[in-house]
Amino acid sequence: MKVLALGAGGFIGSHLTKRLLDEGHEVIAVDLYKDYKVKKFADHPNLTFLVQDIRDRNWPMDDYVKQVDLVIDLIAYANPGLYIKIPLEVFHLNFIENLRIAESCVEHGKRLIQYSTCEVYGRTAASIDGIDLADPADPKYATFSEDKSELILGPVAKHRWIYACAKQLLERVLHAYGLEKGFSYTIIRPFNFIGPNIDFLLDEHEGIPRVFSFFMDALMNGTKM
Ligand SMILES: NC(=O)c1ccc[n+]([C@@H]2O[C@H](COP(=O)([O-])OP(=O)(O)OC[C@H]3O[C@@H](n4cnc5c(N)ncnc54)[C@H](O)[C@@H]3O)[C@@H](O)[C@H]2O)c1
Repeated sequence: MKVLALGAGGFIGSHLTKRLLDEGHEVIAVDLYKDYKVKKFADHPNLTFLVQDIRDRNWPMDDYVKQVDLVIDLIAYANPGLYIKIPLEVFHLNFIENLRIAESCVEHGKRLIQYSTCEVYGRTAASIDGIDLADPADPKYATFSEDKSELILGPVAKHRWIYACAKQLLERVLHAYGLEKGFSYTIIRPFNFIGPNIDFLLDEHEGIPRVFSFFMDALMNGTKM
């Protein structure tokens, strides 16, 4: 299969791309960075790696979408520090730019695997202050269900929710394209993946770690959490 992997230079994308190559697929990988995370497979004969900003309107995204069997979209600002610092950019990248990718897939009849987030689940009923629950200890108020949870986000003024909201809206639009146009897609909602090449301890680009990296940094280097 020929795959277009967008965000392939990131934490999850680099592992996924290696696995796809190992399984004999051909991959066109796109990312802002081609760094230590892609070192192990950078010279693979079935890999074309494009260092590219997908926001660049001169980049012919459609031409790449047209030539593959499957598109995998991992592109996002996926770092809570950024949801607080640059919420507008988070919305633009995580909704508007991801929507452009999805709409290109719709137009050219390509299947899309879209990385969303567990944050779309939002808050559990049990976490809401003052809520009157019949049986607060009932697991149904504290657990998430893929298609049944209510997906409750927080107040607008707590703008870190813009990430979850952008991802949730994207999921809803993909679903609508499925209903109205027969669009074929899969949504993945990772729950804090961890592993080699997660950011910060080695990452020279962003310098704002995610929670697990903070935790590991504190453990390994004695830094403050
Ligand atoms: N890691 C997790 O546990 C986790 C949890 C929930 C959701 N997710 C989602 O999974 C996906 C991948 O997450 P990750 O942990 O690998 O994040 P990551 O930040 O390591 O990967 C995202 C990649 O997208 C690239 N990118 C960003 N803007 C770009 C642009 N304009 N043009 C081209 N490339 C661009 C980045 O350079 C980066 O390599 C994201 O959509 C994220 O929201 C991940």
